[in-house]
Amino acid sequence: MHFQWYPGHMTKAKRMMQENIKLIDLVIELVDARIPVSSRNPEIDDLGKNKARLILLNKSDLAEDKWNDAWAEYFKGKGYSVVKVNSKKGGGIKSIQGVIQEACKEKIERDRKRGILNRPVRAMVVGIPNVGKSTFINALAGKACTKTGNKPGVTKGKQWIRLNKNVELLDTPGILWPKFEDQTVGLRLAFIGSIKDEILNSEELAMELIGFLKQSYSGILKGKYQIEESEDHFECLRNIAESRHCLVKGCELDTEKAARLLLDDFRNGRIGKITLEFPQDYA
Ligand code: G4P
Repeated sequence: MHFQWYPGHMTKAKRMMQENIKLIDLVIELVDARIPVSSRNPEIDDLGKNKARLILLNKSDLAEDKWNDAWAEYFKGKGYSVVKVNSKKGGGIKSIQGVIQEACKEKIERDRKRGILNRPVRAMVVGIPNVGKSTFINALAGKACTKTGNKPGVTKGKQWIRLNKNVELLDTPGILWPKFEDQTVGLRLAFIGSIKDEILNSEELAMELIGFLKQSYSGILKGKYQIEESEDHFECLRNIAESRHCLVKGCELDTEKAARLLLDDFRNGRIGKITLEFPQDYA
């Protein structure tokens, strides 16, 4: 499978981020806790150099707790502040304000020495499509937020949100990058649903997922679908189709439907808490 494209709105979004980075104190980067490295846009490190950095392991409810902790340590070891969050249910959200102040304490101190008091921290929120940025901002800002509209020096129509007197957020559109050097990155993004399914072959994708699950979470498919985890991935998919009565014309197994069912179950956490990549592979 090959993933390579870069729609025009992504080029535009990147330009918007580059134009606004000078106004920013802190970059809040949402990653998917199931694939914390593969869901990071590699261009963000360059964009955010010399800025305070906060990584949010979002959708932590869908990944294994022990690996969430291991990933948090991994990123802390690289100098990032890290918080595990479940934006959908509000988990971890309460601690964010404190972490933002802590991550920006040098800047706040610098301001204080210059006699600048009460200038809010300005944070840019970034993340790939579907990582949960809107859900996170809504959870953090709640109803209290007010959009501050355009600021001088800021490109028109930008999405500034004033959280309170201490923090202002700049929302940015989710962007992917032009080319995946490593095809497994594209594959993992497809598993979690960040690459549109229309451009992918669901059966191929499902078989790749079956391969991973059999290797790293042996027995999980058997438990979920009451099937034999056959060696052959396509056979496994047929077994799922059979077990879930995915049929065409009343009798033939519909492996396409079974593939979509499997991917959907995985993406919504119905197979269990599953982490797709592990820190030791990025030591
Ligand atoms: P985006 O702005 O980054 O594109 O993402 P968005 O907030 O729209 O979230 C994408 C999907 O991820 C949504 O599901 C949202 O509910 C879900 N989501 C966001 N954060 C979390 C989280 O921490 N845990 C879990 N389990 N899910 C999360 P959806 O199916 O598109 O919508 P909905 O049916 O949930 O409303």
